[in-house]
Amino acid sequence: MRFFVNVDHVATIREARKTTEPDPVEAALACLAGGADGITVHLREDRRHIQDRDVERLAAAVTHPINLELAIAGDVLAVALRIAPHQATLVPERRLEITTEGGLDCGPAAQPIPKLRDSIRRLGDTGVRVSLFIDPDPTTIDRAAELGVPAIELHTGEYANTYRESDAALERLQRAVDHAKSCGLAVHAGHGLTYSNVTPVAAIEDIEELNIGHSIVSRSVLVGMKQAVHEMRQRIDEAR
Ligand code: PXP
Repeated sequence: MRFFVNVDHVATIREARKTTEPDPVEAALACLAGGADGITVHLREDRRHIQDRDVERLAAAVTHPINLELAIAGDVLAVALRIAPHQATLVPERRLEITTEGGLDCGPAAQPIPKLRDSIRRLGDTGVRVSLFIDPDPTTIDRAAELGVPAIELHTGEYANTYRESDAALERLQRAVDHAKSCGLAVHAGHGLTYSNVTPVAAIEDIEELNIGHSIVSRSVLVGMKQAVHEMRQRIDEAR
């Protein structure tokens, strides 16, 4: 299974101060050293974390695949077409949301949203593998298949929010994976996956890629804290 790490929230910490640290590109290199197969970044329309320059620097710094998440908005699409990452995952975006709340609306049967269809075509023509981030719902999967994309990413948010109480979302996810495979789609999954809930999803054989971000960045802050304080302690003590 391919494992992509989303480093958006490294940039979130940087943007809290509008400074240069921590650097998401440096974090990406650490992720790859730690065993990630690729790096995911979400270039949001409001640029609240990842900036255009980060995507450019990332593309120059890593030879591993980059999965660029983006909404079908003019200026972010232009960045994707210019940088031509290995993969683009099209996501819905609402300005005030804290994170991507639901899957993409692919439009009604046989009437795909023109802007979506056009974005998929332009990315595909540029050699970018296109994936659609959608809810684990059979009708939406059918619509995605009609759009001719090679891959979808199933939104695991409902599973992540309910796995402690019930297996229903996991079962729904499994059925969606089976349905997508029967439509000839490659299946990815992500959102809200943590060290506590990843195992049952990682065990679904036909999911070929996972995208995980917030939980890994959160853990890295804690597992790195002792070392970070030790290094500052040394600098202070050496000055005395
Ligand atoms: N997949 C997609 C399409 C996303 O938008 C996100 C969040 O940016 C993720 C995966 C990762 O979610 P999380 O940060 O909750 O692991």
